[in-house]
Amino acid sequence: MELPHDGDYFVDVHLGDPLLVRISRGDITKSSTDAIVNAANSMLLAGGGVCGAIHRAAGPAIADECRKISERQSPLAPGHAVATTAGLLPSKYVIHAVGPIWRGGDEDEAQVLANCYRESMCIADELGLRSMAFPAISTGVFGYPVKEAAAVAIPTIVKSLAAAKHLVFVEMVLFDKPTLDSFAAVALQQPDAYPNHSYYCSIGQMQS
Ligand code: APR
Repeated sequence: MELPHDGDYFVDVHLGDPLLVRISRGDITKSSTDAIVNAANSMLLAGGGVCGAIHRAAGPAIADECRKISERQSPLAPGHAVATTAGLLPSKYVIHAVGPIWRGGDEDEAQVLANCYRESMCIADELGLRSMAFPAISTGVFGYPVKEAAAVAIPTIVKSLAAAKHLVFVEMVLFDKPTLDSFAAVALQQPDAYPNHSYYCSIGQMQS
Protein backbone atom coordinates (compact mmCIF):
# COMPACT_ATOMS: atom_id res chain seq x y z
CA MET A 1 0.00 0.00 0.00
CA GLU A 2 1.47 3.40 -1.02
CA LEU A 3 1.10 6.67 0.83
CA PRO A 4 -0.49 9.59 -1.08
CA HIS A 5 2.10 12.09 -2.36
CA ASP A 6 -0.21 15.12 -2.21
CA GLY A 7 -2.44 16.55 0.46
CA ASP A 8 -3.26 15.43 3.94
CA TYR A 9 -4.31 11.89 4.58
CA PHE A 10 -4.82 9.59 7.53
CA VAL A 11 -3.98 5.95 8.03
CA ASP A 12 -6.36 3.77 10.01
CA VAL A 13 -5.01 0.60 11.57
CA HIS A 14 -7.95 -1.73 12.23
CA LEU A 15 -7.18 -4.19 15.00
CA GLY A 16 -10.51 -5.97 14.84
CA ASP A 17 -13.84 -4.26 15.59
CA PRO A 18 -13.98 -1.86 17.45
CA LEU A 19 -10.24 -1.28 18.02
CA LEU A 20 -8.74 1.43 15.84
CA VAL A 21 -5.44 3.35 15.72
CA ARG A 22 -5.54 6.48 13.53
CA ILE A 23 -2.46 8.32 12.31
CA SER A 24 -3.28 11.83 11.14
CA ARG A 25 -1.95 15.37 10.89
CA GLY A 26 -3.27 18.19 13.03
CA ASP A 27 -3.18 20.26 16.19
CA ILE A 28 -3.78 18.04 19.20
CA THR A 29 -5.32 20.90 21.22
CA LYS A 30 -8.33 20.65 18.85
CA SER A 31 -8.76 16.93 19.45
CA SER A 32 -12.03 15.82 21.03
CA THR A 33 -10.85 12.42 22.21
CA ASP A 34 -11.53 11.71 25.91
CA ALA A 35 -7.87 12.42 26.73
CA ILE A 36 -4.95 14.04 24.98
CA VAL A 37 -1.35 13.37 25.93
CA ASN A 38 1.07 16.19 26.63
CA ALA A 39 4.79 15.86 25.84
CA ALA A 40 5.65 17.23 29.27
CA ASN A 41 8.82 18.01 31.22
CA SER A 42 9.73 16.45 34.57
CA MET A 43 8.65 19.56 36.49
CA LEU A 44 5.22 19.58 34.73
CA LEU A 45 5.75 23.24 33.85
CA ALA A 46 4.25 24.88 30.76
CA GLY A 47 7.11 24.82 28.24
CA GLY A 48 7.21 25.36 24.49
CA GLY A 49 6.12 23.01 21.68
CA VAL A 50 3.00 20.96 22.17
CA CYS A 51 3.22 21.48 25.96
CA GLY A 52 3.01 25.27 25.56
CA ALA A 53 0.15 24.92 23.07
CA ILE A 54 -1.82 22.66 25.45
CA HIS A 55 -1.31 24.96 28.46
CA ARG A 56 -2.30 28.05 26.42
CA ALA A 57 -5.44 26.41 25.04
CA ALA A 58 -6.46 24.83 28.36
CA GLY A 59 -6.18 27.98 30.47
CA PRO A 60 -4.69 28.14 33.98
CA ALA A 61 -6.58 25.20 35.53
CA ILE A 62 -4.19 22.48 34.39
CA ALA A 63 -1.09 24.46 35.45
CA ASP A 64 -2.59 24.64 38.96
CA GLU A 65 -3.21 20.88 38.99
CA CYS A 66 0.30 20.25 37.66
CA ARG A 67 1.76 22.43 40.41
CA LYS A 68 -0.09 20.41 43.08
CA ILE A 69 1.09 17.11 41.59
CA SER A 70 4.66 18.47 41.41
CA GLU A 71 4.58 19.38 45.09
CA ARG A 72 4.01 15.68 45.85
CA GLN A 73 6.03 13.85 43.20
CA SER A 74 8.41 16.14 41.36
CA PRO A 75 10.46 15.54 39.33
CA LEU A 76 8.43 13.04 37.35
CA ALA A 77 10.93 10.58 35.86
CA PRO A 78 11.12 10.11 32.08
CA GLY A 79 8.84 7.28 30.94
CA HIS A 80 6.11 8.20 33.45
CA ALA A 81 2.82 10.03 33.18
CA VAL A 82 0.14 11.69 35.31
CA ALA A 83 -3.40 12.85 34.51
CA THR A 84 -5.09 16.19 35.10
CA THR A 85 -8.41 17.54 33.95
CA ALA A 86 -8.36 19.47 30.67
CA GLY A 87 -9.53 23.00 31.49
CA LEU A 88 -10.95 24.69 28.39
CA LEU A 89 -9.86 21.94 25.97
CA PRO A 90 -12.47 19.75 24.25
CA SER A 91 -11.03 16.63 25.95
CA LYS A 92 -11.87 15.54 29.50
CA TYR A 93 -8.28 14.81 30.60
CA VAL A 94 -4.71 15.72 29.77
CA ILE A 95 -2.18 12.96 30.45
CA HIS A 96 1.24 14.52 30.96
CA ALA A 97 3.95 12.08 29.83
CA VAL A 98 7.65 12.83 30.20
CA GLY A 99 9.57 11.52 27.21
CA PRO A 100 13.27 10.70 27.09
CA ILE A 101 15.83 13.22 25.89
CA TRP A 102 17.64 11.66 22.90
CA ARG A 103 21.30 10.97 23.76
CA GLY A 104 22.27 8.86 20.77
CA GLY A 105 20.12 5.79 21.40
CA ASP A 106 22.29 3.84 23.87
CA GLU A 107 20.72 5.14 27.06
CA ASP A 108 17.46 3.19 27.09
CA GLU A 109 15.66 5.93 25.17
CA ALA A 110 13.49 3.38 23.30
CA GLN A 111 12.38 1.62 26.50
CA VAL A 112 11.64 4.94 28.20
CA LEU A 113 9.67 6.19 25.18
CA ALA A 114 7.70 2.91 25.00
CA ASN A 115 6.92 3.29 28.70
CA CYS A 116 5.48 6.78 28.07
CA TYR A 117 2.98 5.35 25.59
CA ARG A 118 2.19 2.29 27.73
CA GLU A 119 1.75 4.21 30.98
CA SER A 120 -0.37 6.93 29.33
CA MET A 121 -2.67 4.27 27.85
CA CYS A 122 -2.82 2.43 31.17
CA ILE A 123 -3.89 5.64 32.96
CA ALA A 124 -6.55 6.36 30.31
CA ASP A 125 -7.85 2.79 30.52
CA GLU A 126 -7.98 2.91 34.32
CA LEU A 127 -10.00 6.13 34.05
CA GLY A 128 -12.45 4.15 31.89
CA LEU A 129 -11.81 6.31 28.81
CA ARG A 130 -12.68 5.11 25.31
CA SER A 131 -10.43 7.37 23.22
CA MET A 132 -7.16 9.28 23.46
CA ALA A 133 -4.71 11.18 21.26
CA PHE A 134 -0.91 11.34 21.33
CA PRO A 135 1.56 13.80 19.82
CA ALA A 136 4.95 12.46 18.68
CA ILE A 137 6.47 12.47 22.17
CA SER A 138 10.16 13.50 22.39
CA THR A 139 10.55 14.29 18.68
CA GLY A 140 10.74 18.09 19.14
CA VAL A 141 12.84 19.79 21.81
CA PHE A 142 13.95 16.38 23.19
CA GLY A 143 15.51 15.48 19.81
CA TYR A 144 14.34 11.88 19.31
CA PRO A 145 14.69 11.03 15.59
CA VAL A 146 11.20 10.78 14.11
CA LYS A 147 11.57 7.43 12.30
CA GLU A 148 13.01 5.77 15.40
CA ALA A 149 10.27 7.28 17.56
CA ALA A 150 7.59 5.96 15.17
CA ALA A 151 9.15 2.48 15.30
CA VAL A 152 8.70 2.52 19.10
CA ALA A 153 5.32 4.26 19.27
CA ILE A 154 3.25 2.27 16.78
CA PRO A 155 3.92 -1.27 18.06
CA THR A 156 3.59 -0.12 21.68
CA ILE A 157 0.22 1.50 20.98
CA VAL A 158 -1.01 -1.54 19.04
CA LYS A 159 -0.09 -3.96 21.82
CA SER A 160 -1.47 -1.73 24.59
CA LEU A 161 -4.74 -1.16 22.75
CA ALA A 162 -5.18 -4.88 22.14
CA ALA A 163 -4.78 -5.40 25.92
CA ALA A 164 -7.01 -2.50 27.06
CA LYS A 165 -10.37 -2.95 28.78
CA HIS A 166 -12.07 0.34 27.89
CA LEU A 167 -9.96 2.12 25.26
CA VAL A 168 -11.03 1.48 21.68
CA PHE A 169 -9.58 4.43 19.74
CA VAL A 170 -6.06 5.91 19.82
CA GLU A 171 -5.05 8.70 17.48
CA MET A 172 -1.52 9.91 16.74
CA VAL A 173 -2.00 13.60 15.93
CA LEU A 174 1.14 14.72 14.13
CA PHE A 175 1.99 18.32 13.55
CA ASP A 176 3.86 18.21 10.26
CA LYS A 177 3.80 16.15 7.08
CA PRO A 178 7.28 14.52 7.42
CA THR A 179 6.26 13.23 10.88
CA LEU A 180 2.93 12.00 9.51
CA ASP A 181 4.78 10.22 6.66
CA SER A 182 7.21 8.52 9.07
CA PHE A 183 4.51 7.26 11.45
CA ALA A 184 2.25 6.20 8.56
CA ALA A 185 5.11 4.29 6.90
CA VAL A 186 5.80 2.35 10.11
CA ALA A 187 2.10 1.52 10.50
CA LEU A 188 1.92 0.18 6.93
CA GLN A 189 5.00 -2.02 7.50
CA GLN A 190 3.64 -3.70 10.61
CA PRO A 191 1.03 -6.34 9.62
CA ASP A 192 3.27 -9.37 10.06
CA ALA A 193 4.40 -8.25 13.49
CA TYR A 194 1.11 -9.26 15.17
CA PRO A 195 0.28 -12.84 14.22
CA ASN A 196 -2.16 -13.17 17.15
CA HIS A 197 -4.68 -10.54 16.16
CA SER A 198 -6.10 -8.84 13.12
CA TYR A 199 -4.16 -5.92 11.63
CA TYR A 200 -5.46 -4.17 8.55
CA CYS A 201 -4.60 -0.67 7.27
CA SER A 202 -6.68 1.73 5.20
CA ILE A 203 -5.81 5.21 3.93
CA GLY A 204 -8.28 8.11 3.87
CA GLN A 205 -8.06 11.67 2.57
CA MET A 206 -8.57 14.54 5.04
CA GLN A 207 -11.48 16.87 4.20
CA SER A 208 -10.21 20.45 3.70
N1 APR B 1 -0.26 19.40 18.13
C1 APR B 1 0.40 18.25 17.84
N2 APR B 1 1.75 18.16 17.84
C2 APR B 1 2.46 19.29 18.12
C3 APR B 1 1.84 20.53 18.43
C4 APR B 1 0.43 20.55 18.43
N3 APR B 1 -0.26 21.67 18.71
N4 APR B 1 2.83 21.44 18.66
C5 APR B 1 4.01 20.81 18.48
N5 APR B 1 3.79 19.52 18.16
C6 APR B 1 4.74 18.43 17.87
C7 APR B 1 6.14 18.80 17.48
O1 APR B 1 6.18 19.19 16.12
C8 APR B 1 6.87 17.50 17.73
O2 APR B 1 6.69 16.63 16.62
O3 APR B 1 4.92 17.66 19.06
C9 APR B 1 6.11 16.90 18.92
C10 APR B 1 6.86 16.91 20.23
O4 APR B 1 7.61 18.11 20.32
P1 APR B 1 7.82 18.93 21.67
O5 APR B 1 6.57 19.64 22.02
O6 APR B 1 9.05 19.73 21.53
O7 APR B 1 8.01 17.77 22.80
P2 APR B 1 9.32 16.93 23.24
O8 APR B 1 10.28 16.73 22.15
O9 APR B 1 8.77 15.74 23.97
O10 APR B 1 10.03 17.90 24.27
C11 APR B 1 9.42 18.11 25.51
O11 APR B 1 9.58 20.47 25.32
O12 APR B 1 8.21 22.29 25.56
C12 APR B 1 8.99 21.43 26.19
O13 APR B 1 7.86 21.28 28.32
C13 APR B 1 8.29 20.54 27.21
O14 APR B 1 10.43 20.35 28.22
C14 APR B 1 9.45 19.66 27.48
C15 APR B 1 10.00 19.38 26.10
